[in-house]
Amino acid sequence: MTIDRAESCKTLADDTQQRNLEMLREGEASATSRRKFEPREEETMLDLIKKRRSIRQYTDEPVSDADIKVLLEAAMAAPSSADRRPWEFIVVREKSLRQRLAQTHVWSHMCADAPVVFVVCGDERCSKAWVEDTSAATENLLLAATALGLGAVWVGVHRDPQNEEYVRKVLGIPQGLHVLCLVPVGHPAESKPPHTKYDESKVHYDGY
Ligand SMILES: Cc1cc2nc3c(=O)[nH]c(=O)nc-3n(C[C@H](O)[C@H](O)[C@H](O)COP(=O)(O)O)c2cc1C
Repeated sequence: MTIDRAESCKTLADDTQQRNLEMLREGEASATSRRKFEPREEETMLDLIKKRRSIRQYTDEPVSDADIKVLLEAAMAAPSSADRRPWEFIVVREKSLRQRLAQTHVWSHMCADAPVVFVVCGDERCSKAWVEDTSAATENLLLAATALGLGAVWVGVHRDPQNEEYVRKVLGIPQGLHVLCLVPVGHPAESKPPHTKYDESKVHYDGY
């Protein structure tokens, strides 16, 4: 029997929703209990990837230490060239530092409002592929934030040496350690619809 794909996805979503509701009834709806949910993998991954959006407005609610740890674990689960893991992360919660990071460039102002900013660094002495590796880690961090119901945005730094130097000075980051980006994270105060951005014209099979 052929099961219609849309129908089967809907069934998966319904099942998961039902199980999540049951778990919510059993425990409180905290970030911790959300992490206990075990939705089916296929649904979780595809839905989260599409659900992730750049969130630039946050409430005053802090991000818990437990959630910060989950985000760092997700970031460090990323693939890296020769498994060199050239990343380091600076977790910035101190308001005065976040305010200074907000002044890195015109599109970094969100750092002042987010309760925590992850500064994603890459060690060029550890790997020539530090940009690729830390980018993979950053995407993992963004997806994990979405999974926890948090909002985040990638704020680029490293392509402008002046911006990188500015962040390096604010946080005392040594030479040789690059700053790929800043990722402000908080509880979202704006919502955006999921999207796929699928574009058939960008796809080429068996050659260009
Ligand atoms: C390398 C890179 C640098 C980015 N830099 C910034 C930035 O400095 N400030 C900002 O607000 N968003 C920044 N973004 C987020 C993009 O603006 C955003 O991903 C894009 O508009 C698509 O929106 P979406 O993330 O909601 O899909 C950056 C994204 C990437 C991948």
